[in-house]
Amino acid sequence: MISDVEIKNKWFEFFESKGFKRIDSYSIIPENDPTVLFTTAGMHPLVPYLLGETHPKGNKICNIQRCIRTTDIEDVGDDSHLTFFEMLGNWFLGECDKEKMIEYSYEFLTSPKYLGIDKKRLATTVFAGDELAPRDTFSYDVWKKCGIENVYFLDKKHNWWALGGGVGPCGPDTEMFLDTGKEKCSEKCSPACDCGKYLEIWNDVFMQYVVEHEGDAVKPLKKPNIDTGMGLERTVVVINGLKSVYDCGVLKKAIDFISSHAKISYLESEKSKRSYRIIADHLRSALFILGDERGVVPSNVGQGYILRRLIRRAVNCARNIDLDTKYFNDIIDIYVDRHGEDYADIKRNREFVKVELDKEVEKFSKALEEGHKEFDKVIRGIEKHKEFASKNGEVVENVISGKACFRLYDTFGFPFELTKELAKEIGYDVDEEGYKKAFMEHQEKSRSASAGTFKGGLADISDASAHLHTATHLLMAGLRKMFGNGVMQKGSNITPERMRLDFNVDHKLTPEEIKTLEDFVNDAIKKEIPVTYEEMTLEEAKKSGAVGVFESKYGEKVKVYTIGNISKEICGGPHAKNTKDLHHFKIVKEESSSAGIRRIKAILD
Ligand code: ALA
Repeated sequence: MISDVEIKNKWFEFFESKGFKRIDSYSIIPENDPTVLFTTAGMHPLVPYLLGETHPKGNKICNIQRCIRTTDIEDVGDDSHLTFFEMLGNWFLGECDKEKMIEYSYEFLTSPKYLGIDKKRLATTVFAGDELAPRDTFSYDVWKKCGIENVYFLDKKHNWWALGGGVGPCGPDTEMFLDTGKEKCSEKCSPACDCGKYLEIWNDVFMQYVVEHEGDAVKPLKKPNIDTGMGLERTVVVINGLKSVYDCGVLKKAIDFISSHAKISYLESEKSKRSYRIIADHLRSALFILGDERGVVPSNVGQGYILRRLIRRAVNCARNIDLDTKYFNDIIDIYVDRHGEDYADIKRNREFVKVELDKEVEKFSKALEEGHKEFDKVIRGIEKHKEFASKNGEVVENVISGKACFRLYDTFGFPFELTKELAKEIGYDVDEEGYKKAFMEHQEKSRSASAGTFKGGLADISDASAHLHTATHLLMAGLRKMFGNGVMQKGSNITPERMRLDFNVDHKLTPEEIKTLEDFVNDAIKKEIPVTYEEMTLEEAKKSGAVGVFESKYGEKVKVYTIGNISKEICGGPHAKNTKDLHHFKIVKEESSSAGIRRIKAILD
């Protein structure tokens, strides 16, 4: 059995021996990219270098990157899906020596000093070619030269890699699989099918192309690169012939711990097994989101909302297996003990994570039982309706109305996705459109948050608050001017008396910096700039360069507020009509909010 730690060590040993420089994992919250919520691959924070900037450590680097992917969150609980994972990666920047990289891959996989896989058990795939890029016969020949018999040409669907949003460096790849020895599922069986015969372990992407803006055509990169990625947990499972990612390492430890405290056992049912696994996976992700140097806390927006969903889902799963949520903190300890050496911030923030986790768990636990009662009541209502309708020859479908879903969200704190999941368990569907509508109607009514973005933090809609809200946008613009576009709003709360803004800057602001910020906002006030807004789709908003941390799910149209050429933000308003309404802006306090997050309180006088 090769452990995850051994694989990590071998990874660095191998690539350092080939002249690659080791770099640290980046934050799990992407720095200059408001379009994605989390770092999803090792290459993600390296995009500027893949586009030509010079990396301080040179052009050959390697690392182990913490990643979160939530696209497959529904599948977590099966044998392979995780929301958090570590990706082993190495890069050639501005150089695309495919032959060398394939030879390295071959050596790392087969050499007894490293993974020691029998080459007969390896299969690889290369790009078959299309109108965008030629057939990769070059890579095919290199694999053959290495002695790999099974090399398959596959199309763009399988052998082309780009970031989730589609924008950025991209290109054909060559992927490596372990042949499990299972029978072929058909004549055509190949790594393209998911019958389980071939399990992927590594991906070498030849980043020879770029998509500069959404909707643009793919064009060649002046300086192509190589980006490779190997999922650590997955590799441990595959090369050790295990069945599931929960059968080894720290995830197994967490499952064993839960087993010794839950009243319902791991293997009692599919549902209990899934619940154990979801708790194990989601709490690890929660730790990495809360404990990150740029960490966020649960909220109804962006990363904070995902975090809330993860924690609340774990709480519901704890209910399924009769596990007291007081044990969540012990599970956090298991993960910090294992990962703390590699990621100093989660170790440093261990207590902060526990406090924030406790708060969210408590908030939700209070409403959980009542929420389940409400859920059961809704189902009983539909069943009754069905019975009645069937007597009249009518059919009523198993669908929970949008209004009911919204009530569960608004009154009992059930994230919509949780209601959907509970519904699915009993063969019900949910009316998603109806939910969105109910949500939007509520937003309209309260006018307290933005159309479709949850952003705002406004506690009321008085003129005083609206003016402070505009001041928040100006201050945000000032901060971004001073510290760069990586600065994002991390939280906001506005009352008629004052505004409060949290943002990611890593040091206490100096008196000079505070003065410059005040001057910046007061200058804008003096210029008497009209504040305008336009409604547009989220895509259009992104294209227009508007700033915003947002979830696209809840609304088709968003408002974009513009203050001259100073600020453009996705936001629901309301705002001042003109900056002159603000009179004068004054910062009254600057303090730390949490790790890596500063807080400013300011007034208008
Ligand atoms: N960026 C590539 C991946 O995530 C290596 O598979």
